[in-house]
Amino acid sequence: MAKAELTLNGKKVSFTPGQTILEVCQQNGVEVPTLCHLAGTTPTGACRMCLVEVKGARTLVASCAMPAGDGQVIETESEKVLIARKLNVELLLASGHHNCLTCEANGDCKLQALAYQYGVESVRFEKSDRYYPTEDDNPFIVRDFSRCILCGRCVQACNEVQVNRAIGFGYRGTEAKIVTAGDQPYINSDCVFCGECVQACPVGALTEKKARGKGRSWETRKIRTTCPYCGVGCQMWLHVKDNQVVKVTGVEDAAPNYGRLCVKGRFGYDFVQSPERLTTPLIKVRGKFKQATWDEALDLVAAKIKAARKEKGANAVAGLTSARVTNEDNYLFQKLMRVGVGTNNVDHCARL
Ligand code: FES
Repeated sequence: MAKAELTLNGKKVSFTPGQTILEVCQQNGVEVPTLCHLAGTTPTGACRMCLVEVKGARTLVASCAMPAGDGQVIETESEKVLIARKLNVELLLASGHHNCLTCEANGDCKLQALAYQYGVESVRFEKSDRYYPTEDDNPFIVRDFSRCILCGRCVQACNEVQVNRAIGFGYRGTEAKIVTAGDQPYINSDCVFCGECVQACPVGALTEKKARGKGRSWETRKIRTTCPYCGVGCQMWLHVKDNQVVKVTGVEDAAPNYGRLCVKGRFGYDFVQSPERLTTPLIKVRGKFKQATWDEALDLVAAKIKAARKEKGANAVAGLTSARVTNEDNYLFQKLMRVGVGTNNVDHCARL
């Protein structure tokens, strides 16, 4: 497609028509702060943190929602822009109860980082006196509307990324709130607890229930791994403190999931540390399980399969494999059954 050109902070840069000003800034290494912007979804222009100055425009414009135009002259760090961004941070801080000391998101909060970046030491506006009770009557997600900045990223994540359509904006004006249908708690709604909203929340309004109090973001280290639940191979970060998994998030910039996870992948990690988890094979001796080596276990299985085949034929044997192993392992298993054992009786726990 034909390229167009604009001037960004005094430098001529080219872009593809259809790109937003924010995209042009990002592709040219110019940092513009954002809060409501969620890549890949429809821009909402809700937070106004990404304001930039476009020569000739009557007002500052939200760069995430404004298409770049041929010949535009854009300033991203002018005095006007910096004053407006700082003002927006103050307004957002005044709109809720952002007590960082007790907030679960402390150290991992975009609003906190922006307040620091723009030197907001006090808030000149009257603080909202609206308190909402914290909603934590489900096993996975804590919703604290007193900390919500109504950026709408959770709504975009639910509606446009996961396409569950479980939440949206409700009420009006100072009463505005993110709601499920009928403003019910998540547990009584269409929410499937994929947790995409939690990953999208830039503040402490939505947090993982099991991670609360388990460690601040600077106390955990992130270890990249592949989800063990099925063969899709979703990429995830394990947030680990003292060798314990504290929470799981999706890797934003990697295929196949680009940050998305399902309820099992995001919240079903308890088994990793379960004391009931098997660490060695078990074989039954006189009706009781006893720990065995892999050689002992595999020899026993091979002997049983051979005996059954000899006595009743290969079709007396069946193999059931698991969604928790890789596609390659499942392929090898069916090959073992068909070619090694000689039966097509092979199935998979996730098929039914
Ligand atoms: Fe552009 Fe929020 S990031 S308005």
